[in-house]
Amino acid sequence: MRLELNKSSSKLTDFRENNAIAKSTILAAFQDCRQQTLALLEQIDAGSFCSQVHPDFSPLGWHFGHIAFTESLWLLERNAGGKCMFPQYRQLYAADGLPKSARVELPSIDETRDYLDAVREKVVDYLEVADIAADAKIWFFLLQHESQHCETISFVWEFSKIQNSPSPSLSRSPSVSSGTTSLALANDMIQIPAGEFEMGSNDIDALDNESFAHKVYLDTYFIDRYPVTCQQYREFMQAGGYENAQYWSDAGWRWLQSEQVKQPLKQPLYWHDDAAWDNHPVCGVSYYEAEAYAKFVGKRLPTEAEWEKAVRGEVNGELGGKVYHQRKYPWGNEEPTAEYCNCAVSIFESQSQFQFQTTPVNAYPQGKSAYGMYDALGNVWEWTSSWFDGYPGFTYYPYTGYSQVYFDGKHRVLKGGSFATRVWAMRGSFRNWYHPHVRQIFAGFRCVSDER
Ligand code: AVJ
Ligand code: FE
Repeated sequence: MRLELNKSSSKLTDFRENNAIAKSTILAAFQDCRQQTLALLEQIDAGSFCSQVHPDFSPLGWHFGHIAFTESLWLLERNAGGKCMFPQYRQLYAADGLPKSARVELPSIDETRDYLDAVREKVVDYLEVADIAADAKIWFFLLQHESQHCETISFVWEFSKIQNSPSPSLSRSPSVSSGTTSLALANDMIQIPAGEFEMGSNDIDALDNESFAHKVYLDTYFIDRYPVTCQQYREFMQAGGYENAQYWSDAGWRWLQSEQVKQPLKQPLYWHDDAAWDNHPVCGVSYYEAEAYAKFVGKRLPTEAEWEKAVRGEVNGELGGKVYHQRKYPWGNEEPTAEYCNCAVSIFESQSQFQFQTTPVNAYPQGKSAYGMYDALGNVWEWTSSWFDGYPGFTYYPYTGYSQVYFDGKHRVLKGGSFATRVWAMRGSFRNWYHPHVRQIFAGFRCVSDER
């Protein structure tokens, strides 16, 4: 029997809710994800494909081969018990194979596409006979693995365009322009009442670092209703934020000084010097810049728990605000669509909805959380003050190199996803992590405060 592609939807909700095994749904999701990947590959020229634009990131072309390699390793070799399909690629594309700087001698774009296709053909055959009930997790892992590498390709690609342009500011106009958020509105905060909530996830798609769900108690705090906007951030820039050590942590100020040597730093990486972007979230800041802005306005960055409770908590009507249920997404449990947030939507949705740039912070009222927090998912990733670490009972999956090797006290957690994040890797419990100096990711932030 040939699997039928479920054309109406690549959503995994049915799978989650019934824990039923729907191979056609997995196939649709894999094909949806891959179609986006191949569309991305189409845009890249041969020169950009194999050059390393920044030491922190591999060349764009490497990621595509690594996506094929990882799928082949975990499904065809480890799960199906087959042989390595392209042993000549093993060292090049293994996660622990070569240093990033040595990943520049790559197969051509056409060879890479053939590699992706050859592996995928075998994977689709394997899906027909695979024991999904026993091994569901690996399929969800791979969907998210491909999604995440494609987001990296997207931002490294965007970064390389900035690197090669003469002006430091982007000159593009927003497709969704400013809207009506005033500064007063942008400064609005939400009170989150003291109480216990459950963070993390035990769902089938939860990655190793999200497991297991566990209770956390938090005192009352106030969190920004919206991510910090460009207009708000401009006040920091105009007040001499980048020249004044008092706003910066020691590590942040040291980082800033070393950056100033390379290129005077006075604005976020993806800054548009244009009021049309005023109500868009600031995008392309390091953790240090986020931390300095928070200090400037007398606030601080949220912990991961503070961010997650405001996003996933559902309050019962009683006074005291005891949280009795955690939502998967801020709006509920329905999967992300272009109605709810600015993300890399499924190919089954109208592609005219795919922004691939930021949108005003109040553009998605339907996507707000039970507490009324806007724009938690999509638009920009949000820095939190939490170091990336394992939850109680952490067990690595499928390999220590996925999460565990980053539990080193040197990576900060980011939450929420960006306009370039695909739906399979976006939910309230999802955890991203980077070194605090990284500003190439599509990241902004919001602030919290202990008092109003
Ligand atoms: C979670 C985005 C930091 O890209 O290094 C991909 C995801 N891990 N392959 C990364 C990941 C292994 C990871 N981030
Ligand atoms: Fe990887």
